[in-house]
Amino acid sequence: MKVLIFGSGGREHALAWAIQKSERVTEVVCAPGNGGMAGIGRLVPVSLGDLDGLVQVALAEQPDLTVVGPELPLSLGLVDALQQRGFKVFGPTKAAAMLESSKSFAKRFLQRHQIPTANYAVCTTAEEVEKAIEFFHAPIVVKADGLAAGKGVVICQSRRAALETAHGLLSGKLLGSKEQQIVIEEFLTGDEVSFLCLTDGKHVAQLVPAQDHKRIGEGDTGPNTGGMGVYSTDSILEPEMTEWILHHIARPSVRGMAAEDTPFVGVLYIGLMMTARGPQVLEFNARFGDPETQAILMRLDSDLVEALEACVEGRLSDTEFRWKPGASACVIASSGGYPGSYQTGFEITGLEAAEEVPGVKVFHSGTSLNGGRVLTSGGRVLGVTAAAATLPDALKLAYTAMEKIHFEGMYFRHDIGHRALKKG
Ligand code: AMP
Ligand code: GLY
Repeated sequence: MKVLIFGSGGREHALAWAIQKSERVTEVVCAPGNGGMAGIGRLVPVSLGDLDGLVQVALAEQPDLTVVGPELPLSLGLVDALQQRGFKVFGPTKAAAMLESSKSFAKRFLQRHQIPTANYAVCTTAEEVEKAIEFFHAPIVVKADGLAAGKGVVICQSRRAALETAHGLLSGKLLGSKEQQIVIEEFLTGDEVSFLCLTDGKHVAQLVPAQDHKRIGEGDTGPNTGGMGVYSTDSILEPEMTEWILHHIARPSVRGMAAEDTPFVGVLYIGLMMTARGPQVLEFNARFGDPETQAILMRLDSDLVEALEACVEGRLSDTEFRWKPGASACVIASSGGYPGSYQTGFEITGLEAAEEVPGVKVFHSGTSLNGGRVLTSGGRVLGVTAAAATLPDALKLAYTAMEKIHFEGMYFRHDIGHRALKKG
């Protein structure tokens, strides 16, 4: 079986690593891939925003299964385009991916299906913002409607700041392009949980839960990033709470999309805030999380290809998942300056020594190969990931491996897992 993976991040490296472990897989092709994925499969250069180029890669490669990693090609309709040409492809259609690509769509969908989420207003003009903001107390969350790579959400400490942010988004000053719509939202407090499910459009199979660390600074300070580290243990959610989330959030979401004739097939990533009034949906992603996937797949003990294929073929209810008990953790090494501007092209050393630490796997996020050397090529560079019997053990292994790795300007958080460790 030949599997084509679209994407170039740590998530896709982890997917490629898990996919090539399947006995049925004989060839993995990554487009465009990265320096780490080069050790698993052949790399084919392509731009992830070029729909025609992506389709051409599939036509040339004729894969038996295609997996689309990132949100951009999903939002452009890559799955629709490949399905029309008869390919078996894992991921939601453009219409279903709107759960991620339009926050106003997602909020209205949640409301239509009575799925718990923060109170909100959708605004298209400055006048609408001024009227709506009267109904909110600070802090107020202001969100760009469209994809913004983690930069489209601003938590504002006053109504005045919320107004300014809203104007900045609508006028294009904040993100560089004008937002047609924005979402204003009630601020929620609690622990965040990444609840990822595989779905074939009807059935739902939850993956093990994970907790991301979105802020750049230790102690969860500073600006938001794509995610600086993550851990997964079963104790993040009690079994009763998992059941509650499946019953009140995950299954109604999948049923709702099917009822609206836009069945969702793929990974539904439900970002939850565990508030005093119960779990509330913060956001949907229409894809695997990054770095959640690195930690989650380290714990998977059954065949990922079988599970992905079962989603595409509508037979997820027959699929068995096995998970390793214990814990996993992924710590991100980023370029100095990220999430602001940063330099790339620095040589990375110590990768082999890091992977010699038992239980450790280093997933590449932003790397490229140059001759025999591995160079930095992105903001998030590596995801040093470990699995062990307990979370403290997994973290210790990941940090031991991290200490062996060097590149100029390398930065990582030393406190991944701190919230779980505090709770004991
Ligand atoms: P989103 O892209 O909507 O998940 O937002 C990114 C991050 O902003 C989330 O992971 C939260 O940490 C934070 N956030 C988003 N919405 C809210 C909210 N209503 N209340 C508090 N924090 C939020
Ligand atoms: N780690 C958050 C995300 O993948 O969106």
